[in-house]
Amino acid sequence: MESSYFCAFKGARLFLSLQILMICFMPKGHTYGVEGKIASHTASISSLLPSPSCSSSTSKASDRKSTLEVIHKHGPCSHLVQGPSPLNHTKLLLQDESRVNWIQSQSSNGSDGLEDSAAARLPARSGITIGTGNYVVTIGLGTPKKNLTLAFDTGSPLTWTQCEPCVRSCYNQSEPRFNPSQSSSYANISCTSTSCSQLGHLECSGTTCLYFIRYGDQSTTTGFFATEKLTLTPTEVIDNFEFGCGEKNRGLFLGAAGLMGLSDDKISIVQQTAAKYGKHFSYCLPSSPSSTGHLTFGKDGGASSSVSFTPLSKIPPSSQFYRISIEGISVGGNRLSIPSTVFSSGGAIIDSGTVITRLPPTAYSALRDAFRTAMANYTKAPAFSLFDTCYDFSKESTVVVPFITFSFAGGVEVNLDLSGILYPVQSSQICLAFAANPADSNLGIYGNTQQKTFDVVYDVAGGKLGFGSNGCS
Ligand SMILES: *[C@@H]1O[C@H](CO)[C@@H](O)[C@H](O)[C@H]1NC(C)=O
Ligand SMILES: *[C@@H]1O[C@H](CO)[C@@H](O)[C@H](O)[C@H]1NC(C)=O
Ligand SMILES: *[C@@H]1O[C@H](CO)[C@@H](O)[C@H](O)[C@H]1NC(C)=O
Ligand SMILES: *[C@@H]1O[C@H](CO)[C@@H](O)[C@H](O)[C@H]1NC(C)=O
Ligand SMILES: *[C@@H]1O[C@H](CO)[C@@H](O)[C@H](O)[C@H]1NC(C)=O
Ligand SMILES: *[C@@H]1O[C@H](CO)[C@@H](O)[C@H](O)[C@H]1NC(C)=O
Repeated sequence: MESSYFCAFKGARLFLSLQILMICFMPKGHTYGVEGKIASHTASISSLLPSPSCSSSTSKASDRKSTLEVIHKHGPCSHLVQGPSPLNHTKLLLQDESRVNWIQSQSSNGSDGLEDSAAARLPARSGITIGTGNYVVTIGLGTPKKNLTLAFDTGSPLTWTQCEPCVRSCYNQSEPRFNPSQSSSYANISCTSTSCSQLGHLECSGTTCLYFIRYGDQSTTTGFFATEKLTLTPTEVIDNFEFGCGEKNRGLFLGAAGLMGLSDDKISIVQQTAAKYGKHFSYCLPSSPSSTGHLTFGKDGGASSSVSFTPLSKIPPSSQFYRISIEGISVGGNRLSIPSTVFSSGGAIIDSGTVITRLPPTAYSALRDAFRTAMANYTKAPAFSLFDTCYDFSKESTVVVPFITFSFAGGVEVNLDLSGILYPVQSSQICLAFAANPADSNLGIYGNTQQKTFDVVYDVAGGKLGFGSNGCS
């Protein structure tokens, strides 16, 4: 029985406290944590599954002038996917694994690769695996401006789009390719300029600077490094924005016109707009592909009032990724006993492009075991891809799922949204949305599923990362 189980479970932790009595007499559907607060989510099954139609979220951020709408590439809010084509979860999670492998191969020697040494960057700046779990925003480029939908990625530096003329290969995108010859504000970057040297290599066509990126999944883009007028929103226009105008592109970008690079790098949009936005941006990823979130540059208007901040580590200083420190995890309000060295040995980053959070195996098994214990009442389902803990909820109308809370350095407690705990493959197979790294010494990654519905605030200049709950739905 659920109630007797919880009495035993809490009793072991709390000894004889009145709360044990409270828990024993709790009505079905709620569990209480150590301070008597509700420590579980109660949800209807239908709310766990994505809706087939788009409902734009009326986010608090939407009236800010530097805010773009964020859309899941595969959902009904996206114009990149024509017709009803169900998300292939197997494929998505395979691509996620490939992205994670690439990130970890870059950091396996205690650095994040891409150091500021010419040797590390030659012959070309290699990029990250894009994966298919990306979120997109629509920007305007050129004069007159053309709308382009770009995947945004905190793990990539350069912003680029496919350009005309396409030399040899381009992939299909849903919007017309950008044509620099039809824009009055386009200019090539000279091969001798500082900007060109910031690419980390010098490859030129005559006097014109070229860029080349090879992504971890063998996707590539190459073309002219150029400047253009970038229109984020009607009031927010950035002149002379440096971007890659790709004339030869290959890869699985699935209809998007290119990529917006949000890492902390000289050539990223974050540093290029530092004077205007103070190296400050935030985003909110919606709870499901059927709703929308936002990406906001600058502090304008602020995020939700209740943002709490954890340090963004600057070690190593040239890190391509945003490093954070995970200190603990709680399930149902109870802190798991995981030695702090388990988290510190490999360290962790936050990434907008990795779908599923990767934990040290010691932390993952503690999380999984506590979760399985709390979910013991439900019918198990077969494992799926990265997931070893799945449930068949097809005969349930509602489910009660324990809170999962991450503790980050600086006393930041992030109580995940239910959409950050369960990954719905189908109603008969809904899985715990976490995965284990091969070893505790591997880099941990706080992925985008676990970031859903939070305002995630990157105060890069201030060296801190904030989480604000209820940023979007
Ligand atoms: C989903 O992707 C996997 C891996 O790429 C592939 O083997 C499978 O056939 C795909 N399923 C469907 C229904 O397309
Ligand atoms: C890590 O070190 C090994 C052995 O020294 C080397 O082969 C490998 O290329 C290095 N990886 C990175 C990403 O620097
Ligand atoms: C371009 O994008 C903006 C913002 O998403 C939208 O309001 C506008 O209608 C789009 N213009 C065209 C021509 O599609
Ligand atoms: C790209 O689009 C063209 C025209 O719509 C089509 O013929 C071609 O098969 C598409 N290529 C791929 C790889 O989807
Ligand atoms: C940019 O450089 C390329 C190659 O040199 C050239 O074909 C193109 O006309 C240049 N564009 C502009 C606007 O100067
Ligand atoms: C747990 O199992 C009992 C006995 O089958 C059942 O009465 C109860 O509704 C279940 N609880 C949940 C949350 O499904």
